[in-house]
Amino acid sequence: MLTSGSLQALDLINGVLLEPGDTVIAEQETYGGALTRFNRLKVTVVGIPLDGEGLRIDLLEVALTDLKRRGIRPKYIYTIPTVQNPTGTIMGVQRRRQLLDIAQRHNIPIVEDDCYADLIWDGHRPPAIYAMSERDDIIHVGSFSKSIAPALRVGYVVAPWDVLSRMLAIKADAGSGALEQMVLAEYCTDHFHAHVPELRKALRLKLDTLIAALEENFGTSAEFEDPKGGIFLWVKLPDGVDTRKLFQAALAEGVAINPGPEWSTDASYAASRMRLCFASPSVDEIRRGVAVLAEVCRREFGVPRRIANIASRGS
Ligand SMILES: Cc1ncc(COP(=O)(O)O)c(C=O)c1O
Repeated sequence: MLTSGSLQALDLINGVLLEPGDTVIAEQETYGGALTRFNRLKVTVVGIPLDGEGLRIDLLEVALTDLKRRGIRPKYIYTIPTVQNPTGTIMGVQRRRQLLDIAQRHNIPIVEDDCYADLIWDGHRPPAIYAMSERDDIIHVGSFSKSIAPALRVGYVVAPWDVLSRMLAIKADAGSGALEQMVLAEYCTDHFHAHVPELRKALRLKLDTLIAALEENFGTSAEFEDPKGGIFLWVKLPDGVDTRKLFQAALAEGVAINPGPEWSTDASYAASRMRLCFASPSVDEIRRGVAVLAEVCRREFGVPRRIANIASRGS
């Protein structure tokens, strides 16, 4: 089913699967837009910690066993397996299998949010969890927002008819705009396969610029893993930096960041973390923005220390 952005797909899925008081499982760090929806719906989110390959299956097992003991059956597992938002990891095929197994054993549907799957640096995307499954309770969500343009508002959801028909019944907009879909169809037929590698190249250049600017201006005060693709970098600042306060102070200077707690189910773990989105600004804006951010952070929290800055400039 075509939707107005994948956000509408998430709203429709929630509309048919969730009620206030329900529980869902998500990655501990996850898409802020999904978290605000869960909060608004008064749904409890159990966050599962991540590692370099995404959702940790061992900790998922622990959480599900604990919930079962308490008589709670989560309504679904929400995962962003391919270029996880915000950590930038990719779940390998083996772990996808393990996730399917465990979900099946506990009889819990999976919602796979896959909007970054085209934006992997090496171009090799693992098969979708939906494609690997023979079960009828996997829901796959995709979007053209990241690969073509967010303002077009064209997303889609692939789901068994049982779920899809109920979503259709609550899709109250009498149809998503056809003109955008026709524009996309015309453009993508001839250009999608050439456009995406070009886009990946441009994004990788911006990421490299961002990483170089962070190393120059923050020195060792900014820690991060190289993401496998996507449009964002998840950054750890020294303990004591409150990225919600940094967000306010930086915004006043014209620099926007995503404070970690808005992208995590564990606000204290994420307090000194932030998500930096590099898709829209130019490389010059990225360089200037990071320099401003470092100045603001130094003024508000005393880090990065100036000495680290000078040392890294000299090297
Ligand atoms: C993981 C994830 N899902 C869904 C969306 C919503 O995108 P859209 O509604 O533009 O398709 C986003 C946007 O940032 C996202 O990061």
